[in-house]
Amino acid sequence: MYPQEDNKFKKSCPPFNWYIFLSFIFSQTETTKIKENSHTKWRWLPPIMNHAWPTHPFQGPSCQDKRPNLSEIINHGVPKELCQKVLAVVTEFFQLPPEERAQYLTKNHSKQVKVFNYYQKYDGIGKVTMWSETFSHPWHPTEDFTHLLPTNPPQYREVFAEYARAIGVLFDRLLSLISRGLGLDKDCLKRRIGEKPGLNTQANYYPACPDPELTMGMPDHNDLGSIAVLLQVEGVTGLQVIKDGKWLTVDPVPDAFVINLADQTQVLSNGKFKSVGHRAITNKLLPRLSLGMFYTPNNDTVIGLVEDLIDEENPPEYRKYSFKEYMEEFYKQEGKRRRVKEAFELQR
Ligand code: OGA
Ligand code: NI
Repeated sequence: MYPQEDNKFKKSCPPFNWYIFLSFIFSQTETTKIKENSHTKWRWLPPIMNHAWPTHPFQGPSCQDKRPNLSEIINHGVPKELCQKVLAVVTEFFQLPPEERAQYLTKNHSKQVKVFNYYQKYDGIGKVTMWSETFSHPWHPTEDFTHLLPTNPPQYREVFAEYARAIGVLFDRLLSLISRGLGLDKDCLKRRIGEKPGLNTQANYYPACPDPELTMGMPDHNDLGSIAVLLQVEGVTGLQVIKDGKWLTVDPVPDAFVINLADQTQVLSNGKFKSVGHRAITNKLLPRLSLGMFYTPNNDTVIGLVEDLIDEENPPEYRKYSFKEYMEEFYKQEGKRRRVKEAFELQR
């Protein structure tokens, strides 16, 4: 549940040492708020940005590029009204009485439909719950899980199914553009991620927080799958990406999706495209909602290098692994700043 509705959280918050500790952590990482008119200096807008429909192969920034490896796309083909409708219905879900959302509350990762709270473990302090609530469920194939979705708000199932269909089309496009950007055939990445990908959504609700300096909305992480498509409400900032040790705030661009490359894309591309470290901070005055759609291999998929990307100058950076192994490593690092793909790096 939201931190401010959680009595346990209220009682334990904020002990004095917790305050000092968090102030210390956050003073270590400079939070840079980018000014309104300086977006283009750092926001990486790939060529697909300005097309009526993304058609250009995706070109990642080079290693020397100062821009973070994250992009925002507009003209993506998902109708604006549909995006607004899905944000509205998900917001309504988070505004239901806590007892109603509590039926989905679980710590069991294997549950298909779940509400949970992110947390981070700090040495000497223990678990610190993030200032957010997440609702997660699959987005495809709908017949497998729709009956598990909320019936309140009443339009949830219908709106979500329509949104999922549109996002499915977008993912196909993105996967093929990324493949072509790597010089591969357009179906290569999709094939490598496997015929039955794990398609999951995560709605993250960040209530307004009286003192954002003292908490986090979502801890620093890299997404685990191949690509994430994130929709966020307009006018409230929260998402930040790290670049050269500095946190940069990603202001929501109207009608845009944030596209995050995740760990499996970095591994499959042998490091040509980087998965980006990101986090969410909280906002003092306004609640914020983001809706992430993820395209992830299933457990049986073997993630191995694409031979066409390997040569003398580009020796393999990662060993082959099954996605199940990756997930085991992922859960092993629970509560810490995860470095999962690093466990599969080959020593040079
Ligand atoms: C995520 C995520 C960031 C945000 O769901 O993986 O990084 O802005 N969300 O809510
Ligand atoms: Ni993420």
